[in-house]
Amino acid sequence: MSEQRPREKWGTKLGVIMAVAGSAVGLGNFLRFPVQAVQNGGGAFMIPYFVSLLLLGIPLIWIEWAIGRYGGLFGHGSAPFIFDKLWKNRVLKYLGVIGVFGPVVIFIYYVYIESWLLGYAFFAVSGKLLALSTPEAMKGFLLTYQGLSPGSNLWTAYIFFLITFAVNTWILYRGLKGGIEWLCNWAMPLLFVFAIVVAARVLTLVVTDPAHPDWNIINGLGFLWNPDFSVLGDSKVWLAAAGQIFFTLSVGIGAILTYASYLSHGDDVVLSGTTAAATNEFAEVILGGSIVIPAAFAFFGPVGAAQAAGSGAFNLGFVTMPLIFGRIPLGELFALLWFLLLFLAGITSSVSLAEPAIAFVRDEFNLVRSRAVSFFAVATFILCQPAIFFLGRGVVDELDFWAGTFCLVVFALAETIIFVWLFGLDRAWEEIHHGAELRIPRFYRFIMKYVTPLFLIFILGFWLIQQGWPTLMMHGVSPDNVPYVLATRLGLVALFIGIAGLVRLAYYRRKTA
Ligand code: TRP
Repeated sequence: MSEQRPREKWGTKLGVIMAVAGSAVGLGNFLRFPVQAVQNGGGAFMIPYFVSLLLLGIPLIWIEWAIGRYGGLFGHGSAPFIFDKLWKNRVLKYLGVIGVFGPVVIFIYYVYIESWLLGYAFFAVSGKLLALSTPEAMKGFLLTYQGLSPGSNLWTAYIFFLITFAVNTWILYRGLKGGIEWLCNWAMPLLFVFAIVVAARVLTLVVTDPAHPDWNIINGLGFLWNPDFSVLGDSKVWLAAAGQIFFTLSVGIGAILTYASYLSHGDDVVLSGTTAAATNEFAEVILGGSIVIPAAFAFFGPVGAAQAAGSGAFNLGFVTMPLIFGRIPLGELFALLWFLLLFLAGITSSVSLAEPAIAFVRDEFNLVRSRAVSFFAVATFILCQPAIFFLGRGVVDELDFWAGTFCLVVFALAETIIFVWLFGLDRAWEEIHHGAELRIPRFYRFIMKYVTPLFLIFILGFWLIQQGWPTLMMHGVSPDNVPYVLATRLGLVALFIGIAGLVRLAYYRRKTA
């Protein structure tokens, strides 16, 4: 039976921390975080941000690591049968489908976006990109690359997508230790070096425009960090902070669950989980907070920086930053470092999104890794196509809302309740501390039991009202795009049912085996 087959294991303690940090450190740290901070009270945003980290992020990290490691003991590395092991019930394994479905759906568009970074790294050195000197030209370049401007085509983007997809598949194929751990062990330190170099360059920018001596880097940092405490009464700010914590730590999706399932029972989850989270926070607050917004301020002043931030995280990364690099000495080099750093941040995340589905088919259908990876690659390659060809039709936004926002909260709530309430707080507490050198302060028992789930229920409620209903009713979707959005939804439902069908099949096969 499948339960007897030895599962892969991580090579070293540091390797697994690097892998989980690799999953967490992504575009969110360098692009999404600064935009959220600047739009939600600057330095004051850090109050709800750290409160969410302590009440939501950190407890969820410990829960996910502990549940994953527990599942691994029984040969299960994905949510459906881990949930089933934690609490026997007919429906729970179907709730666990979210932990396979969510990562697959995010993977579909994440890999495509990741491939743009590779493409841009190439254009940064080819000279093409930095020759453009106006925001309009830079935006036009992006739209042409994405095949969204009239007369443009997708050839270039498609080639970089194929390369990116192939590299992801190759790493997954090489295995946990030889692929994922190997990648994260060199890509993470390298990414930090690149980020530190880019941040250092930004922080040493001198005033470029004599007409605006106050557009300097100190004021740029102030623009991001000067606190506006008046926003703290606004629930939107709290939701934004909680959402950012979720997003940046990669909790609530199933990726960490699977990574932790490759631990041994004696491995420490408290220290490793906390270290991975701390690494992510350093990359986010210190490095992410020192690049795009201060740079945009130094070149475009307060109005320009606010405009750039308001036009979205992608515009900052793909439009504002290359414009700035085009104006500084050795701009090609810094642009290359910038896009490579984002590409590495992306690929260490995308492999973690792939792993739950791969673990699922391997563990539950007893496939060898190579077969499981081939199966995954063929399926997701097909599923990527709509995201690529119908990008302008709202397909990616739709995937992102359901998998990247909604599923996260539902899944996090499910795992918290299952572990803390159904499996039981005392057993959960013991399971988390098994092999741990540090003890979590006792008041976290109270936080995990009441505060974290209530916080999650609040977020879910608010999101359903503020975003869920309008999204469901397709407010703001242009009539032309409605059929595409509906088709995407049907596809998502079909995928969910398909995975649920596989869960059912695995369950009955095991019963009759
Ligand atoms: N944490 C990633 C970032 O900061 C994004 C992300 C969210 C993610 N959920 C994930 C990555 C799950 C991998 C797996 O950009």
